[in-house]
Amino acid sequence: MSSDTTDTSTLGADSTPDAPEGTAQALEDRNENRSQRPSSAAFRDFITSGWGPRVDLGVVPGAAAPYTAARRDAVSAAFPGERLVVPAGTLKQRSNDTDYRFRPHSAFAHLTGFGSDQEPDAVLVFHPLGDEGHEAVLYVRPLAPRDTEEFYADSRYGEFWVGARPSLDDVTTSTGIRAAHIDELPDALAKDTGEGGVRLRVVPGADESTSILVESLRHLAGEVDDAETAEVDAQLAEMLSELRLIKDEHEIGQMREAVDQTIAGFEKVVRALPRATEHARGERVVETTFDGHARLEGNTVGYETIAAAGEHATTLHWIRNDGQVRAGELILVDAGVEVESLYTADVTRTLPVDGTYTDVQRRVYTAVLDAADAAFAVAKPGTKFADIHAAAMVVIAERLGEWGLLPGTAEESLDPEGQFHRRWMVHGTSHHLGMDVHDCAQARREMYLDAVLEPGMVFTIEPGLYFKSDDLSVPEEYRGIGVRIEDDVLITADGHENLSAALPRRPEEVEAWMASLRD
Ligand code: GLY
Ligand code: MN
Ligand code: MN
Repeated sequence: MSSDTTDTSTLGADSTPDAPEGTAQALEDRNENRSQRPSSAAFRDFITSGWGPRVDLGVVPGAAAPYTAARRDAVSAAFPGERLVVPAGTLKQRSNDTDYRFRPHSAFAHLTGFGSDQEPDAVLVFHPLGDEGHEAVLYVRPLAPRDTEEFYADSRYGEFWVGARPSLDDVTTSTGIRAAHIDELPDALAKDTGEGGVRLRVVPGADESTSILVESLRHLAGEVDDAETAEVDAQLAEMLSELRLIKDEHEIGQMREAVDQTIAGFEKVVRALPRATEHARGERVVETTFDGHARLEGNTVGYETIAAAGEHATTLHWIRNDGQVRAGELILVDAGVEVESLYTADVTRTLPVDGTYTDVQRRVYTAVLDAADAAFAVAKPGTKFADIHAAAMVVIAERLGEWGLLPGTAEESLDPEGQFHRRWMVHGTSHHLGMDVHDCAQARREMYLDAVLEPGMVFTIEPGLYFKSDDLSVPEEYRGIGVRIEDDVLITADGHENLSAALPRRPEEVEAWMASLRD
């Protein structure tokens, strides 16, 4: 499909923008040069008339609505008397008049319940009601009437091009939040600002045009200290990130769905392995099998799938996925389905391509598994988050010591001044997981690494060992082997639940599971 134009400003007029004689046409106007859309008044009258009633979009209250209301209450309580601005963000250009599929900012999705591709350019605003809480209002670009040029001529927003967007009533029905037209946003943000007036905070980096709008209002109010305003905004981002550290009941349900669909995707990957070995880019067979499943059963993947066969498994974020898949080697698959609400799983299994681990593969795999089990053993309320990693590292260092790979003892390696074992596992063991694969990334250290685990936290346990093929410090039999095992863990009142436990992880279970899927 080729869009006739993205710029509606010249529609209905001559499709060639004015340019002084002898002056080159501006580059940004040249998209118009390929427009073949009729511009006559007769055509415009014809295409904007004769339409039946719109199909009811069937919008119902979203299941997340009661939970998002509680989250907004928490935000309101944290910033009394201030106006808080949480943009969804805008469409990101891929090239010329082609955009990437839209994904809202996670803070916006968390506070509104919107997911999938909803809603470009929307902005959630908390308006202060004196010192008595806030009124939340969602400013959106509602569906344009059919007698507008936008309806048929705007390839970015028009109904003819991208489908019908929700009306203001639809937005309120699905989110439980009062909706207003996006054109009202500038005046709404400006209300009662000015010197000594209402303070504004905006989520930084979420939407450039909204940030510029807030910045201009701050200048009018005499707030010209950039470092100070950046700090004011950072505090909002920090609070919204920390608000997601403990998942509510609805979020945990979404995480379960994401993990369950991810497990189903891994089953499809195992079934596709014989086909992968026959293709020159077998890793792509694995990637597309999983990604196709994610699009069919969820929104998409939560991050780019890693399909890393053989030595590629030693590249931590191998997403090129253009290698061969060979019998006798391992394939590391790190993949997660993101469901419509944007919650994602993040699971890794390292599988023997032909269904059976060799002795040395099994040795490395078992060391990683034991490290994971040591981490699971301390995953309970009261443990410090950082101690999960520490527990896994004890096993990794000991095993490497037993194999004679360390330049000293395991104890020396575990000393902060040593850390030799990290040569073969340079990443951490755990990260919070939720709407973002690396969730809660703006949280303070004392709320993340140094915090104690609490029920409702969801994070990964994902130790690994990676021996590059040109690593001369290890015996040849280890070279080219990379193993990671990653599970998604929910902290409960008295311990933890491995949400991805249904996906086999012990070597003999993996082998039996693979055999069962190949029969
Ligand atoms: N898939 C990225 C990670 O495991 O953190
Ligand atoms: Mn991870
Ligand atoms: Mn992962």
